[in-house]
Amino acid sequence: MSIAEIVDKHGNHRENLLNILHDIQDFTADNSLHQNDLQQLSQIMCLPVSEIVGTASFYTMFSLQPRGRHVIRLCESPPCYIKGADNILRALEQKLGVKVGQTTQDHMFTLETTSCLGVCGVAPAMMIDEVVYGNLTEAKVKTIIDEMMRQSA
Ligand code: FES
Repeated sequence: MSIAEIVDKHGNHRENLLNILHDIQDFTADNSLHQNDLQQLSQIMCLPVSEIVGTASFYTMFSLQPRGRHVIRLCESPPCYIKGADNILRALEQKLGVKVGQTTQDHMFTLETTSCLGVCGVAPAMMIDEVVYGNLTEAKVKTIIDEMMRQSA
């Protein structure tokens, strides 16, 4: 789908920018927003590129850097930290072979940290794409990653 088609789908209005950016990002192979697409979007919507980039930079669900097919966001806010989020992070890093901010060599996972996901009652918690996982243990995250790898094989 082209940028123009995505804008047409949502309507060429400033208030639709987030939905438009979501769709543009979803159509990229590397789960990120590309500079040339944002420039094209700027022309179509008659918005400054700086405003579009500013919006994309503000929200953690958007990335201006290439990312894996699945984005893992581990909560590192105090309630999750107290419940052992640092151990979960080490388990994820070990399982995936990457550090925070990096993408696995097969481009399947990008590992990120985030602030509160709003599910502190099941801390420690993480989100993979749009799915929240709570009451995490080191064994549980390894099982979740194994299952996702099996499903994509
Ligand atoms: S502090 Fe982790 S979900 Fe709220």
